[in-house]
Amino acid sequence: MTFQEQILEGIPEELPPVKPYNTNVNHAPKRKEILTPKEKKLALRNALRYFDKKHHAALLPEFAGELEKYGRIYMYRFRPDYEMYARPIDEYPARCRQAAAIMLMIQNNLDHAVAQHPHELITYGGNGAVFQNWAQYRLTMKYLAEMTEEQTLVMYSGHPLGLFPSHKEAPRVVVTNGMMIPNYSKPDDWEKFNALGVTQYGQMTAGSYMYIGPQGIVHGTTITVMNALRKIGKSPSTGNEGAGALFVTSGLGGMSGAQPKAGNIAGCVTVCAEVNPKAVHTRHSQGWVDEVIDDPDTLAERVKTAKANKEIVSIAYQGNVVDVWEHFHNKNIHIDLGSDQTSLHNPWAGGYYPAGLDFEEANKMMADDPEKFRECVQESLRRQAVAINKHTEQGTYFFDYGNAFLLEASRAGADVFGPGGENAGPEEREFRYPSYVQDIMGPMCFDYGFGPFRWVCTSGKPEDLARTDAIACEVLEEIRKNSPEEIQQQMADNIRWIKGAQENKLVVGSQARILYADAEGRMKIAEAFNNAIARGEIGEVVLGRDHHDVSGTDSPYRETSNIYDGSRFTADMAIHNVIGDSFRGATWVSIHNGGGVGWGEVINGGFGMVLDGSKEADNRLKSMLFWDVNNGIARRSWARNEEAVFAVNRAMQAEPRLKVTLSNRVDDTLLENI
Ligand SMILES: NC(=O)c1ccc[n+]([C@@H]2O[C@H](COP(=O)([O-])OP(=O)(O)OC[C@H]3O[C@@H](n4cnc5c(N)ncnc54)[C@H](O)[C@@H]3O)[C@@H](O)[C@H]2O)c1
Repeated sequence: MTFQEQILEGIPEELPPVKPYNTNVNHAPKRKEILTPKEKKLALRNALRYFDKKHHAALLPEFAGELEKYGRIYMYRFRPDYEMYARPIDEYPARCRQAAAIMLMIQNNLDHAVAQHPHELITYGGNGAVFQNWAQYRLTMKYLAEMTEEQTLVMYSGHPLGLFPSHKEAPRVVVTNGMMIPNYSKPDDWEKFNALGVTQYGQMTAGSYMYIGPQGIVHGTTITVMNALRKIGKSPSTGNEGAGALFVTSGLGGMSGAQPKAGNIAGCVTVCAEVNPKAVHTRHSQGWVDEVIDDPDTLAERVKTAKANKEIVSIAYQGNVVDVWEHFHNKNIHIDLGSDQTSLHNPWAGGYYPAGLDFEEANKMMADDPEKFRECVQESLRRQAVAINKHTEQGTYFFDYGNAFLLEASRAGADVFGPGGENAGPEEREFRYPSYVQDIMGPMCFDYGFGPFRWVCTSGKPEDLARTDAIACEVLEEIRKNSPEEIQQQMADNIRWIKGAQENKLVVGSQARILYADAEGRMKIAEAFNNAIARGEIGEVVLGRDHHDVSGTDSPYRETSNIYDGSRFTADMAIHNVIGDSFRGATWVSIHNGGGVGWGEVINGGFGMVLDGSKEADNRLKSMLFWDVNNGIARRSWARNEEAVFAVNRAMQAEPRLKVTLSNRVDDTLLENI
């Protein structure tokens, strides 16, 4: 059967042969045993409803075996035989181009070069699922192949509920992932309801078909590190005053692995600790980190030399980050910038390795004695905080990297609370150190509308991507001529990024590009792409963004951590965003519970939009992108964020139909006297 025939086949009439478990592929860990015997039967009943009754007797023991062995039913047998990657759009069997573009994006998220656990349909973050099982994948692809522009596909956490009649201007797909009744949104609820086969963790760009490999994270991390250095007056990339500045952090994993590369682009000395030798090897062999050292004394000497010679170098310390913080204090090594990117959103199951245990020991204890492991993690966090505090007392600028470091350290009883202590009001920061959003991404990017805009060239041709890079660069250079002082730096950084994008060889998987831009930039770039498509210069383009953005995400400890009016624990913005995008022209929309900080801790949404060179696409992009950014700016300005007040006033001048409720300031002395 050809690729097209296999897609159109959906779930096959006859059972395909059982697939051997391929040990060369990176597989998801066995999930926690959470279902009661009765619930296991329900999970099996749920799984079998995808198949004709005649197959139930054969499939039942197989699925029961998967549930027992892996904690989930992935239906491995139904994994297709064809290679999984984003094909050029013309190769998809489809009755509408928009649906073909979505198929391309889905396949990219499951590409072996892109996805973390491709056979378990996990794109990144350990649990970021595109689908729960292979039956859902097959059915969805078939629906997409069959659908017309008069239909919308409804996706419930990976399950395709079906095609529903709609209209040409409606989204072709509406995705929800992990939407729960709020009281049922604790981590174990995910374990249970995911094992039952009725929900999934979509992360941000996994379940929304918008992951573009590692380049997405490199751009954001570079912006963060560069601006953090600027904040402390050490900005080697824009002058020489900070050369030799030292950045200490941890993690060489999925996202954290971008830190040394970002440190190099920002022009400093980076030390990134990583306990997992495999992760160190991967990042070193990929050229994402320059040197590897596994002895603290050698590291200290190397760092002293690098600082003295003002080298631009990144060093992986193969070991625990706590040891680096402590050792550098003992050796009087001044750290300019510090952070942490261990996976503390998942502290008890391998996200954080405690000091004093080697990697293998820790893995064993995690499974054999989880209670003791928990104590070790908390003890290690306390030690880490003590060492960090000593450095910050001597001038180190430390920030939380949205990985729940301060949250978990505080839960462990570490000394990380700010002056307001544990009971700080919503208008203050509760922690002693800011998060990267509170100090950097929030005020410098999100509040002005800058966020992770991205696009994918559906032709699959590198020359189309090169052309779009050139177009985007021309547009930004033009906009920059009349940009206000407040955003000149961001414009300059983004122009520099896009100019270096080709050279930095960032593409893994589809022909994609990320480029931080504000509402004006996103709209003008998209318009220029649409015109180039109309002229026949390039093929159709998919627009999208990460959910880690201005408006898409309500996440009190990350994206919206710089909202101080008490509303950061609400999720109205994210919900409005996705609803607003859906009727303003998005090709698909998605809304998720979960994301990078944990189930129940965030609501995040996103969109995809296919540009085909038409007048309708031009209308859609202008209407939707304007809303997609200005929703968040309006909310941030209502929360009294000064940069957003500036941005919303500019937006109202540019678009007279926009009328935003503006907040009035209260004189502090009035309140003090009450
Ligand atoms: N990069 C970003 O822009 C960004 C933004 C927001 C949040 N985050 C958060 O950062 C965290 C990391 O993400 P990831 O995808 O890289 O996760 P990951 O699990 O792939 O990588 C984390 C790495 O930390 C290592 N590690 C754990 N404990 C350690 C210790 N004590 N010392 C040294 N190394 C240790 C692990 O071995 C692992 O390789 C997540 O919590 C994520 O949500 C990242």
